[in-house]
Amino acid sequence: MNDDTPDSMQELADVLQDVRRHLLWQEESAGRSILVDAKVAAELQQQRAAASSVRTMIARTKAPEPAAAPTPPRPPPESPSRDTLHAAMKQPLGAPRPLAAATPPPAAPRAAPAPAPAPAMLLDVPKSAPRYNGALPGVVEGERPTLDQVRRELGDCRRCKLCSGRKNIVFGSGNPRADLVFVGEGPGENEDLQGVPFVGAAGDLLTKMIGAMGFTRNDVYIANVVKCRPPGNRNPEPDEIAACEPFLRSQLLAIQPKVIVALGKFAAQTLLRDTTPITRMRGQWREYEGIQLMPTFHPAYLLRNSAEKRNAWADLQQVMKLFGKHPGSSA
Ligand code: URA
Repeated sequence: MNDDTPDSMQELADVLQDVRRHLLWQEESAGRSILVDAKVAAELQQQRAAASSVRTMIARTKAPEPAAAPTPPRPPPESPSRDTLHAAMKQPLGAPRPLAAATPPPAAPRAAPAPAPAPAMLLDVPKSAPRYNGALPGVVEGERPTLDQVRRELGDCRRCKLCSGRKNIVFGSGNPRADLVFVGEGPGENEDLQGVPFVGAAGDLLTKMIGAMGFTRNDVYIANVVKCRPPGNRNPEPDEIAACEPFLRSQLLAIQPKVIVALGKFAAQTLLRDTTPITRMRGQWREYEGIQLMPTFHPAYLLRNSAEKRNAWADLQQVMKLFGKHPGSSA
């Protein structure tokens, strides 16, 4: 049957118009929603594609319509003010704080040359909305995990090739409720043997740095981007970081520290999703999931470049200031 009669064309145009209205309505209400999971995001994507092809069909079957009003530009996402962050830092240890999200919010870091890319699943997130936890290992959506849960989820990890050469998984050590977390790159030989982070030469320096800041290793928590030793202490590779990073994010969600010190480029670049060199990032306050983050040099780098210790110390002094500590005082 040939449907190309004027009546059937009109009918088709009317149906398509209804469909279009419905899809536009759906599209609009979806745009107001806070967060979508992968499935919903995929559905939305399909709906948008359908809406767009319906528009094309209508344009072909009907006289031209006035163009739809352009969508007003969305206001840029706000980053928390310094005051807000300071207020958050004053919360008592262990007091409930909003759960950090699995993927970074589109908050613009203060000194960042480029903001972290907005996560694909995040639509316009009102500030009051609960944060999306994603599929972080050991995390029940919307709940704060314990480090034990995260460790259990890691199990006898075989998620990347580093598992084949390791002696021990180096999960992390220290106070599970620490206000201050240090994140390094990955275990070396000594750490691999003992299953404890930063126990070799770089670890000795880190322990001194922590002491000079007025803390002990038991006050803080120490973790790494990758939990297994890269062979020959080579740099961790992108697939290894990708496999392990979610566990670091879960650990940070469990601990919810007030400050993170990112030691070296791998820690800083991974957590901030920013490829700026550490030489440019260091010493500038950044933000990771609402937590203050200070990038600084890795202790192993400082062992090779002692002239940079002065800069690293300046970075750590900024951290001390936030904790109300002063060089030379043990308070
Ligand atoms: N270097 C790191 O980055 N982490 C360790 O645990 C030891 C050395």
